[in-house]
Amino acid sequence: MKSFSKIFMNYALVSLFLLVNLFSISCKNKETKTEMEVKKEFFGKTTDGQNVDIYTLTNKSGMKVKIINYGATVVSLTAPDRNGKFEDVVLGYDNIEGYEADKSYFGSIVGRYGNRIGKGKFKLDGKEYQLSINNGENHLHGGTIGFNKKVWEVIGYSDIKYNNLMGGSFITMKYISKDGEEGYPGTVELTVNYTLSKDNELSINYTALSDKNTIINPTHHSYFNLTGDPNKTILDHELMIDADNFTPVDKGLIPTGKFADVTNTPMDFRKPNKIGVRINENYEQLKFGLGYDHNWVLNKHQELEPMIATVYEPTSGRFMEVWTNQPGIQFYCGNFLDGKVKGKNGVMYQYRTGLCLEAQHYPDSPNKPDWPSVVLKPGDVYRQATIYKFSTK
Ligand code: GLA
Repeated sequence: MKSFSKIFMNYALVSLFLLVNLFSISCKNKETKTEMEVKKEFFGKTTDGQNVDIYTLTNKSGMKVKIINYGATVVSLTAPDRNGKFEDVVLGYDNIEGYEADKSYFGSIVGRYGNRIGKGKFKLDGKEYQLSINNGENHLHGGTIGFNKKVWEVIGYSDIKYNNLMGGSFITMKYISKDGEEGYPGTVELTVNYTLSKDNELSINYTALSDKNTIINPTHHSYFNLTGDPNKTILDHELMIDADNFTPVDKGLIPTGKFADVTNTPMDFRKPNKIGVRINENYEQLKFGLGYDHNWVLNKHQELEPMIATVYEPTSGRFMEVWTNQPGIQFYCGNFLDGKVKGKNGVMYQYRTGLCLEAQHYPDSPNKPDWPSVVLKPGDVYRQATIYKFSTK
């Protein structure tokens, strides 16, 4: 009898142990499931009454990317430092009012043509077009009301099954730009997919169609600060750009049309170098840009080329790779930030506290017939792929 009760006790204990474990496993499963869901929340109403939502993408390692359907904008992006601490590494605003008033293009998709077109003029099929002028005498980032100031349609986002299987998540948004908008010919349908992979990559895939011959060159405009502290400058970030040449500009930041060799100039980032080392040199191009605000001619751009640019932040150990299939990259280091704009958590963004690496075609390409074409014809598909990949060293 005694041994029977002992066996029973043991049996009961083992069962209890199994039950507790099963319960905690199922709780854990539940936890991962809710974690891996793309969360949709209300972000705010635009002044013309349109609803804007904020979507949180997550991945298995714990990264979080928050995106709104106003400007298809990345509002925040957390990446781990070398001790596994996740911090937000992009600049942005807490609310829709911030984005509506924004003049810095924080985190958004800019277009139809990212970067500048001289005097906003170009010829296509023998006809001259005049685009809106919004930057001195030039056209910048799609004009007065560019794609960054539009409410995009959310086509869909990944479900829990996909997220759990892939260890990441995605969202796809679309914007239809009407014939004549900001002076551009043809109605263009641009679709942008943001995918956060299990390997800490944020991939941005663009596709566009047009019903008439037009020009197109969208890009992504996140300001990165890999310290995780937007009060610090980016001058100690170590930058590498795989480019032997850049496109020198005039005072209005319009390319002269020539390529210039980076050798023995402050534009040489072929080996990683701290951004601040040569930024204040008495070099004409840096005077024109008030620092770095130039397009580099990438050595490789036949396919989705890995590591055409990298950024390393030594205190946190964060390392960011940029991959793209584009021929150029605009490196801009927040020279127009002046401490007057109130960003997330009330931080006033100071001079050079964020850096942009905008994969794109060279600025003013529509007026440079020898440069890679930015013309999109009906029946053709525009495709861009750009990846920002995060790790630590
Ligand atoms: C781009 C331009 C800069 C500046 C910023 C936004 O990167 O090249 O000159 O206009 O956008 O402030």
